[in-house]
Amino acid sequence: MQNNVWPPYWSIKDKTPRINIVRTSKSFIYDENKTKIFDGIASWWSVCHGYNHPKIISNMKKCLNAMPHVMFAGITHNYAETLAQELHNFSFGQFKKTFFCDSGSVAIEVSIKMALQYWQSLNKYEKTHVLTFSGCYHGETFMASSLSSDENSYISSYTNNVLNVKLPCNAEEMHEFKLFLEKNHKRIACSIIEPLVQGAAGIKMYSSAILRDIFNLIKKYDILFICDECAMGFYRTGRRFAFDHAEIAPDIITLGKALSGGHISLAAACTTEHIFSTICTDGYFKHGPTFMANPLACSAGIASLNIFNDFNYPAHICKITDIFTNVKDRLHKSLHLEARVLGAIIAIEINAKNLDIKAYIYENTKELKLWVRPIGNTLYLMPPLNVEIDDLLDAVKSFEIIIKNTHSVV
Ligand SMILES: Cc1ncc(COP(=O)(O)O)c(C=O)c1O
Repeated sequence: MQNNVWPPYWSIKDKTPRINIVRTSKSFIYDENKTKIFDGIASWWSVCHGYNHPKIISNMKKCLNAMPHVMFAGITHNYAETLAQELHNFSFGQFKKTFFCDSGSVAIEVSIKMALQYWQSLNKYEKTHVLTFSGCYHGETFMASSLSSDENSYISSYTNNVLNVKLPCNAEEMHEFKLFLEKNHKRIACSIIEPLVQGAAGIKMYSSAILRDIFNLIKKYDILFICDECAMGFYRTGRRFAFDHAEIAPDIITLGKALSGGHISLAAACTTEHIFSTICTDGYFKHGPTFMANPLACSAGIASLNIFNDFNYPAHICKITDIFTNVKDRLHKSLHLEARVLGAIIAIEINAKNLDIKAYIYENTKELKLWVRPIGNTLYLMPPLNVEIDDLLDAVKSFEIIIKNTHSVV
């Protein structure tokens, strides 16, 4: 292979070759030697219905023949109109308006711009700051990186308008948080949070009760509440959206990854009629990129939502949770390790003191027939949500082998 690509998160010091994938199908990726490898992380948590889903491919092919792309200002098309309508239905009417974007990071940018413009429309120009929580990650673009906690962002914050506070996880911290809001709320336009699971922080989990308490406090102080559902939306946690567990009503949510079934880049910021009409009654939202609401991407999104409506995901995910809970129990008994399980997610911290865990995994991927990519010392599985149970049981065996071979008992 030529060497002209600059890979992500890669240093010249990395000696392990990247796996050359030539084909995908269901829960599997195939390398150039036809090795069939289970994708334990569903292409960075996006391929929710498995690869090459026939309904998604068929809808995309139809759209490809009709119109791969058309601009979206002054023009509309049924692909975007239908998908927005489907999202409205999927959210049980909670989010009336969808603003389409190209990627999750851009959806974050859009949600923040929406919040700022909302307050500007109400002549509250003092509301200029964004509240974020320790451990958070919201993407790769400039503002999204600046919102992310230092440990998860690969650049430092380049804006002074971000206030990062400790995620309050007990009564004392909640009280501190309340005092902070009392002092600062006038300058805060919005808060943004990853509901229940902080993915890039190492699949860290917190309870729905904490999320509800944070939401209730924030709403008392006239601050917009944004849930970043890019990673956890669409049943990853077992519920439609992760915020559903807390029974709260965010003002804006961001969607990405699984929105197109993970088949093509597509994201969205969805919001209420109130926010939409506040911004658009006398003005307009100042955002409109070239490839916004790309028909091909929307056609994948429509098919993906239809699959969500047709397949009993909550029941299937319960089966995945049971399998992961058994793994958790086994690892606790054999290695005294504490795994975290929620919906179709299992994560565990390995103590791999004398080993480069990533190198170990890459060297053994083909033999174990399992693709995983740890975050630091956190090893996790987030497979396609419709994974076949026998395939998952095989993958879980390999997962446990990796843990046993990399974890050093001290
Ligand atoms: C919570 C969260 N928000 C936003 C993003 C950014 O999405 P994208 O990579 O599509 O830009 C990610 C990506 O992992 C994410 O996990």
